[in-house]
Amino acid sequence: MKIVISEDQIRDGVGRLAHEITEYYADRPLTIIAVLTGSIVLLADLIRQLNMPLRVGVVQASSYRGASTTRGPLVLNSDLMPDITGRDVLLIDDIYDTGHTLVETIALLDGMRPASIRSAVLLRKRGRQQVAYEPDYVAFEIPNEFIVGYGLDYQDAYRDLPYVASLEPGDLGGDPP
Ligand code: IMP
Ligand code: MG
Repeated sequence: MKIVISEDQIRDGVGRLAHEITEYYADRPLTIIAVLTGSIVLLADLIRQLNMPLRVGVVQASSYRGASTTRGPLVLNSDLMPDITGRDVLLIDDIYDTGHTLVETIALLDGMRPASIRSAVLLRKRGRQQVAYEPDYVAFEIPNEFIVGYGLDYQDAYRDLPYVASLEPGDLGGDPP
């Protein structure tokens, strides 16, 4: 495994995100909605650096299935979402890849009539986007390689790594995607 973004770099990047988000919302109450499962580590780190009144909720999105790293159809589950009617919402995800997850999740949230929706991601993969939308806050741009750690998984492994790394032959006993 090769480290792509170190623990220290991630700490700085999350700090920058928190700073930009605070500049924009100031003391306005904010509802953070985290896309499960990949964004839980970012969620935990980010909310501890924000000072406005916060509510936190989650929405589940699954597109990578099992051993497959090509996108399957996106399945969204909003059963665990708090009421966001009239709220300022910040949607957070681990990585912005093709963009379908954020775009489809925003469409779902839009139907719940929030006051506003913005989005923040830790990573944005270069040259992969298939949609016109861009997230409002991005901590790091990365090349187009499959990465794990800091919430991101390969076959549900590696989410616990404190850094972001790319897979190499032999990781998990199989070839990297
Ligand atoms: P998108 O819908 O293509 O933008 O994909 C976003 C989702 O795909 C993220 O929430 C991740 O769960 C997953 N994903 C995209 N690229 C990677 C990667 O390199 N490693 C692990 N998960 C990824
Ligand atoms: Mg995800």
